[in-house]
Amino acid sequence: MSATQPRVALVTGASRGIGAAIAARYAADGWDLSISSRGRDALEARAEELRARGAGRVEVIPADMTDEEAVTGLAAAHAEAFGRCDALVINAGMGQKGAVADLPVRRFDRLYSVNVRAPYILLQSLLPTLRSTAGERDTAKVIAVASITGVYPEPLLSAYGATKAALISLCETFNLEESENGVSATTIAPGYVDTDMSDWLKDTIPGDEMITVDDVATIAYSVSQLSRFAVLPNVVLTRPGSNLHRA
Ligand SMILES: NC(=O)c1ccc[n+]([C@@H]2O[C@H](COP(=O)([O-])OP(=O)(O)OC[C@H]3O[C@@H](n4cnc5c(N)ncnc54)[C@H](OP(=O)(O)O)[C@@H]3O)[C@@H](O)[C@H]2O)c1
Repeated sequence: MSATQPRVALVTGASRGIGAAIAARYAADGWDLSISSRGRDALEARAEELRARGAGRVEVIPADMTDEEAVTGLAAAHAEAFGRCDALVINAGMGQKGAVADLPVRRFDRLYSVNVRAPYILLQSLLPTLRSTAGERDTAKVIAVASITGVYPEPLLSAYGATKAALISLCETFNLEESENGVSATTIAPGYVDTDMSDWLKDTIPGDEMITVDDVATIAYSVSQLSRFAVLPNVVLTRPGSNLHRA
């Protein structure tokens, strides 16, 4: 690949919120993109916006993260379309609030499926492409959006926090196994970010006092600029004041 060819990212959960902001940041730098989430229509609209912002080629690949075949199919479709991946952004995720005392196990299972199992499948199925990209072009990065609750526990977010702690652990172990091949993973662990996912809380914390999607996109973009010699395991983003160590 020539040094002037655009770089390529696969971004999951790109239809809105943090994933849309990360995709927009790469688009503004002229990257090629595969964008994924469940609904094709929202992705097609997003793809138009990304092209208008300066993206090169944008592929729309819908996939439900609870469906193993769809997740492996997403990795295969991306590899087939571009043949490489400079940044795999594992962002699709879901939240769930409830005490250990009464959160039904089936809800835990769904959280685990979207927030941990799908990232594992994506990492595994895209690994040959990530390795070959690092071989050609110094490095390939995995950027996974976790949560501050995966580092510092918060009441009522035990199931969610446990999935995000698992995601952080998965990426740290991935680094032990793969970083000498030039492929490394960074988790981003924000407190509350102003998106649809945090709507339930906005009577207590106004959206305009939350971390912005562009803050998270700035970190994701910066990680993609690091050389193979810089492995950044986890970035915690907290809100101002007395919120340190709290979502
Ligand atoms: N907002 C916060 O306060 C906050 C804080 C820390 C971490 N996070 C994490 O940040 C990530 C992005 O969240 P967000 O705040 O941007 O949420 P959001 O606005 O609700 O967006 C979630 C994205 O994930 C996709 N998604 C959800 N379930 C999916 C599934 N089963 N299969 C495929 N795609 C699915 C959604 O697309 P479709 O619905 O169109 O499929 C959407 O694109 C998540 O991993 C979340 O846990 C959020």
